[in-house]
Amino acid sequence: MTNAWIKKQTCKWFVMAAIATPVLSHPTQAENATPADPVIVTVRASQPKNISPYLFGIFFEDLNYAADGGLYAELVQNRSFEYSAADSKNWNSLTAWELVQNYGKGSLTVETNLPLNEKNPHYAVLTVENAGAGLRSAGFDGIVLKAGEKYDLSLFTKVISGKPGSIVVRLESKSGGLLGEAKFSKLSGDWRKFTDTIKASATDSDARLLIVASGVGAVGLDMVSLFPQKTFHNRPNGLRPDLAQIIADLHPKFMRFPGGCLAHGDGLDNMYRWKDTIGPIEQRKGQPNIWRYHQSVGLGYFEYFQFCEDIGAKPLPVVAAGVCCQNSGYLITHKYGIGQRGLPMELMPAYLQDVFDLIEWANGPVTSTWGAKRAAAGHPNLEYLGVGNEDAQTDVFRERFKMIYDAVKAKHPEITVIGTVGPDPSGSDYDAGWKFANEQHLEMVDEHGYKSPQWFWDNLARFDAYDRTKSKVYLGEYAAHDTGHTNTLRSALAEAAYMTSLERNGDVVRLASYAPLLANERHVQWRPDMVYFNNTNILLTANYFVQQMFGQNQGDVYLPSDSNTTNLIISVVQEKKTGDIIAKLVNVTDTPVTSRLDFASDIKVDSKAVKTVLGGDLSSVNTFANPRNIIPVTSAMVAGKSFSYEVPAHSLTVIRMKTRR
Ligand code: AHR
Repeated sequence: MTNAWIKKQTCKWFVMAAIATPVLSHPTQAENATPADPVIVTVRASQPKNISPYLFGIFFEDLNYAADGGLYAELVQNRSFEYSAADSKNWNSLTAWELVQNYGKGSLTVETNLPLNEKNPHYAVLTVENAGAGLRSAGFDGIVLKAGEKYDLSLFTKVISGKPGSIVVRLESKSGGLLGEAKFSKLSGDWRKFTDTIKASATDSDARLLIVASGVGAVGLDMVSLFPQKTFHNRPNGLRPDLAQIIADLHPKFMRFPGGCLAHGDGLDNMYRWKDTIGPIEQRKGQPNIWRYHQSVGLGYFEYFQFCEDIGAKPLPVVAAGVCCQNSGYLITHKYGIGQRGLPMELMPAYLQDVFDLIEWANGPVTSTWGAKRAAAGHPNLEYLGVGNEDAQTDVFRERFKMIYDAVKAKHPEITVIGTVGPDPSGSDYDAGWKFANEQHLEMVDEHGYKSPQWFWDNLARFDAYDRTKSKVYLGEYAAHDTGHTNTLRSALAEAAYMTSLERNGDVVRLASYAPLLANERHVQWRPDMVYFNNTNILLTANYFVQQMFGQNQGDVYLPSDSNTTNLIISVVQEKKTGDIIAKLVNVTDTPVTSRLDFASDIKVDSKAVKTVLGGDLSSVNTFANPRNIIPVTSAMVAGKSFSYEVPAHSLTVIRMKTRR
């Protein structure tokens, strides 16, 4: 996060301040060929250049309720009563819960003296004076149930006093209509876990979960969880299938997680600690999310790695570089103070051990301590490790980063460790970050850039000038921020043009991911995002479709091309596995461009090809009311060794061609 970012967030935190209106100065038709002249694109297919086979991936951060209340399919909010004012100013242990006294009388409190375990210190106590009192969860803005589908319910109970009897859990409509029920008896004085499966009798997008005790007494309740059985790939403790699927549809080659700012945290005590995020959910340690809500870590490292495996993406975890976010304490003051702080040196060996353990957890044999813990997670294969995120380039940072980098490379030369060069694609941290990267001969660094569409157009040649002998680049976060931070086609086409430059420079830019990925439309903290959702719908933006068109059409060989216009931005790649040649053409002018593609080699290009076109008005956006304003349209077309194609105004076209030997 930059200072500029802070200023933006200060006025808004949840609604970013407007940025200057970009004025596009890309060339117009008149500057080049006349409309009557076909643009000749000559593809020098005999001069292939190997590029990164993993160029386009995704970056996931629990921001905008992307995980809790989003991708993570848990339906009960604040399920372990750990919410607090440290998460969000007005929150407490009973946020998203309420006492219900419709049929009985009682009280609801929160206690800590007999906890389920030390990682979950708080639990609710329902004290019933007249049987029928209970507590109710409103979920994350309601609970969505689908008729006939099954939901796994689990909760921990403990009799504290009296005879609270049995516990009845009812799934109800907002008006109290019964949608499903489970009953648990034989409660004990010790914490005891109960589970059951409830089949929803009707569809309801705003249901509630009610817990009622049948007797009189006090009962402790903790980790109340309701999960749809239908999750992505039917994984227990899994992911919302519709959201997970649209991510899978991007065909990401890698996935960076868990953030962003969230990874290095709001103060040293808020760094993301991967070990707190694995194991049974009741033994995980949730904590405040730097984005001012709570992270349950129900979606933890196990689930991240599993998801990567399910979608064929390489995991790219990011650990803090031994320092917290330089903007720590911006909203709440932590005991370590405000700003970037480094872990005290005496804590660094233990921190380093956590990093080694992560590598062992991911890659170690099942006979190793952490490899054994991972075995059930499938077969993660860790090749990349991010260390640090946008960190201010201070001595405190450099000392700790170097310690981690050198130690990991010495013990695990097979891991590509990715450094960081600050929050902006220029400026003092960027310069200092690159200087440090060059001095240390880092193999790869993470660059970020949230800029106007015009900036992207102005920087299409940026990576052409990068020194090929220096560190490779992971463009870990980028997005074109148009006026009002809306997801215009203008912003998406600027990104598309820029992505062609990433392909051209795929020898130096090895990985790239748009950011942020997801936003719950009721809790948007950062705009623009790639995908917006609510509990029942998903809104795919023009930016999503650009990512999808590039993601689904990645190549590992770049075929240089020349053309007699700058009106068309062009990239041609080949996918070794299939031999397919893929051309991407961006026309941001307001006139169609008649083009002819010539393959200047003996390559045999099939005449049957498929094209996908995304186009429209530069200012148009998709909305929940009009989600199909800008959508890609796929159709067959005739290609060949030399063929003509009229590139529509304001569009991205991807043409996929088969080749023959
Ligand atoms: O993507 C949102 C935020 O932007 C990330 O958390 C941070 O790395 C950057 O400032």
